[in-house]
Amino acid sequence: MNALVTGGAGYIGSHTSLALLRQDMDLVVVDNFSNSHPEALARVKALSGKDFPFYEGDVCDATLLDRIFSENAIDCVIHFAGLKSVGESVAQPLRYYENNLISTLRLLQAMGAHQVKRMIFSSSATVYRSDSPMPVDESAPLGCLNPYGWTKFMCEQILRDAAVADPKLSVVLLRYFNPIGADSSGQIGEDPDDIPNNLMPYVAQTALGIHKHVNVFGDNYNTPDGTGVRDYIHVSDLADGHVAAIAYAMEHTGSEAFNLGTGVGYSVLDIISAFEKANRVKVPYVIGPRRRGDADAVYSNPDKARRLLGWQAKKTLTDMCRDTWSWQQKNPHGYRTGS
Ligand code: NAD
Ligand code: UFG
Repeated sequence: MNALVTGGAGYIGSHTSLALLRQDMDLVVVDNFSNSHPEALARVKALSGKDFPFYEGDVCDATLLDRIFSENAIDCVIHFAGLKSVGESVAQPLRYYENNLISTLRLLQAMGAHQVKRMIFSSSATVYRSDSPMPVDESAPLGCLNPYGWTKFMCEQILRDAAVADPKLSVVLLRYFNPIGADSSGQIGEDPDDIPNNLMPYVAQTALGIHKHVNVFGDNYNTPDGTGVRDYIHVSDLADGHVAAIAYAMEHTGSEAFNLGTGVGYSVLDIISAFEKANRVKVPYVIGPRRRGDADAVYSNPDKARRLLGWQAKKTLTDMCRDTWSWQQKNPHGYRTGS
């Protein structure tokens, strides 16, 4: 099995590349480092003890894709490459639509030209309507609140249509909930290049003293302690979900969507106190106003993935907090540490 991993230097792509190599699969990575660092790939190679071909470039570039598919016998594409910041997508919608849609179209076109029939796509829980009853399952109505979400929604539709038109195509749409944590080695992890927008990297940087306190965005939500509830999933469990999705794509054609979550919701205050307890550190916090567009609670019904992919998340919130802290301590400035 030889997988083309687009965006393989990124947070989820690097952990999935490591999981694939540990399963003795072959891979080819393409990334333009628009939101990542070459050091991530060097560490994936060191951790796995394996090498793989890498192409630096843009997945929107049809000539590059033709070269990659001509030079490598690809069985399956795992498409992580995309822009992912919700706020940035509101400010720069055209850049988001261009990057996320054109990359997906170019990949499908190159796959068609080279007879590659399997695609695993990084979708998001953000495709579900914000008023969906929780836990949300894959049959819930879709609808988004920002351009980033719409790019995922539109790519899903493009991929579903492509699978209708080509009955040999197999498309797996993976709707991730909130990936956090890092490989247990602490060698690869999430490396935001600015002040983090997401909760967990902000908590870890605060524990390290980079920020004075965590700003808790609102404590008057309709949740048990009033702070927002999310379905946090360890990135290594998420990576294993892709290994299971490849096995599924080998056996099935058509398109299918799967939630990748734990099914359990934790609040912002749960996360802060779990992080303090797991790592014996203090994480000061201040309750502030709500962040625009945030929902009260978002968590998955992960039963479909368990039934059809034979996959379920195994790691605990303590594992997620411990592994995040190990990565943060070893790499206080991410992959730029020491360079
Ligand atoms: P990331 O930014 O760490 O990784 C994305 C990678 O793709 C980066 O290495 C970036 O350099 C690369 N890239 C972007 N556009 C490219 C292009 N046109 N050509 C080549 N390379 C390109 O993000 P991540 O957290 O690893 O997310 C991976 C995927 O999962 C994304 O599609 C994201 O939208 C989706 N997703 C992420 C989350 C999350 O919370 N992290 C949640 C749901 C879905
Ligand atoms: N939060 C804080 N303080 C912070 C950051 C976040 O209180 O500094 C709160 C938020 O209000 C929310 C929770 O922590 O209640 C989680 O927020 P994140 O920003 O970590 O995650 P989101 O659920 O908002 O968004 C994530 C991804 C999106 C994706 C979405 C659904 O960042 O790309 O999950 O999959 F669309």
